[in-house]
Amino acid sequence: MRDKLERLAVAREASEQGGGAARIAAQHAKGKLSARERLDVLLDEGSFVEMDRFVTARSLAEGEAPIYGDGVVTGHGRIEGRLVYVFSQDFTVFGGSLSEAHAAKICKVMDLALRNGAPMIGLNDSGGARIQEGVVSLGGYADIFLRNTLASGVIPQISAILGPCAGGAVYSPAITDFIYMVRGTSYMFVTGPNVVKTVTHEDVTMEQLGGADTHAGTSGVAHFACDSELACLQHIRELFRYVPSNNVDDPPRGTGRDPRDRREESLLSVVPENPNKPYDMREVITRIVDDGTFYEVQPDFAGNILVGFAHLGGQSVGIVANQPAVLAGVLDINASLKAARFVRFCDCFNIPLLTFEDVPGFLPGVTQEHNGIIKHGAKLLYAYCEATVPKLTVITRKAYGGAYDVMSSKHIRGDFNVAWPTAEIAVMGPKGAVEILYRKEIAEAADPQAAMDARVAEYTEKFANPYIAAARGYVDDVIDPRDTRPRLIEALESLRGKRDRNPAKKHGNLPL
Ligand code: HXC
Repeated sequence: MRDKLERLAVAREASEQGGGAARIAAQHAKGKLSARERLDVLLDEGSFVEMDRFVTARSLAEGEAPIYGDGVVTGHGRIEGRLVYVFSQDFTVFGGSLSEAHAAKICKVMDLALRNGAPMIGLNDSGGARIQEGVVSLGGYADIFLRNTLASGVIPQISAILGPCAGGAVYSPAITDFIYMVRGTSYMFVTGPNVVKTVTHEDVTMEQLGGADTHAGTSGVAHFACDSELACLQHIRELFRYVPSNNVDDPPRGTGRDPRDRREESLLSVVPENPNKPYDMREVITRIVDDGTFYEVQPDFAGNILVGFAHLGGQSVGIVANQPAVLAGVLDINASLKAARFVRFCDCFNIPLLTFEDVPGFLPGVTQEHNGIIKHGAKLLYAYCEATVPKLTVITRKAYGGAYDVMSSKHIRGDFNVAWPTAEIAVMGPKGAVEILYRKEIAEAADPQAAMDARVAEYTEKFANPYIAAARGYVDDVIDPRDTRPRLIEALESLRGKRDRNPAKKHGNLPL
């Protein structure tokens, strides 16, 4: 037995070496951690339980020695005590490339995650399909894509890109719920700079083509761009303060001590008197939520809408907010896509939606129309319509046109819709309305500007306020902004037992 145990100890030790010390040193020299070091940072100390450490590649070149683990470390661990399944690709073994055995290891933990209702976190650092294995490796990718799709909406799936992620390999992270990247070391592209140069004659660096800032700021493929791997892994841990383990569990409660009945005096001065002046909606959010903590998602993309998580009276909420400080908070294609995906995530995982609304409408323009603002805007509308989680809306200022309907209005099953006295709920802003309704009269007036001003004042008094909507019950109340926090907490509690259902169907047909 002693000999056997010794052999086991040697084999276990060998299995933790990956591609060896020199390759691990090369990894460190690039500012990257090893696959195992990453898991140490991501998971609660000592909680990682490895599986399949002795798996080796199923096909090797002649004379090639098998390497334990075959380029990926898999298993489960804990984040703040909660079970998560993980895989961490090891770039020191065949460049972390995906072989048949490597894929089978990933599929095994994905199956376990789904069966046990635990989140799945993938740490990607790979040269893509194991070239020596050919189509078998492609099949391995497809096995993963299928599992990503089947698990979507059942367990949260998180991807960290911590090295190259190229070719079809990008499509697994793309199906998952949130993608985290690291500046300077992580790349995602369907084809790299060399192929781009050959095909389109464009000169582009890896970072420009598919680096963290490109995907978090320009393409919207990634949700977070972090400055270091440590920051990235820590940020993933924080996400789990808000999201549940699966689609039937409740989200975790916040641990803050912010008083539930806290009135916020400063909310009286956030919205400027001049309706055309911008203000920062983040100020509104952070003054209302527990301890001012807002976990913003996609902070660098489509800044005209804000999305993210917070706790309110200890309950996790998903916040969607127009941002008047960027493009006046208008809804354009990118804002619609960003918010639609977020609304759907929250609805999958029973996280109530809280909407702060100050929106002048959808963005006009040839580019927007030709790129399909109609179908992309429809995605946000569809997402809000189909969502059955508690839906709370606060109109702080403008709620104009189609955007009024879209932003979680009463008509599309909003549960608790309130407006501040500064709200203007109308088909369009006073100036635009007057220009259409009274164009002739103003043109023919002795003093056109005075005529215009008079009509604008009249329209503002008549329509640009919350009381017509309140008279119809389209908003449930017009509230003192200082009371927003206690009123929202009260509403959330009254909606704890909410049960709503969409008609039975195979699935809807989201306008793609
Ligand atoms: C087998 C690979 C590999 C691969 C890298 N390696 N990629 N082995 N299959 N796909 C090996 C290298 O041979 C090398 O081994 C070691 O990993 C480290 O690679 P380097 O090239 O030295 O590292 P680096 O300079 O950092 O460059 C990393 C890289 C580059 C940019 C990822 O290796 C690269 O371009 N690899 C090929 C990428 C690729 O085209 N993959 C296929 C994409 S298509 P040694 O022993 O020399 O150290 C795809 C399809 C998926 O993935 C489809 C899904 C549907």
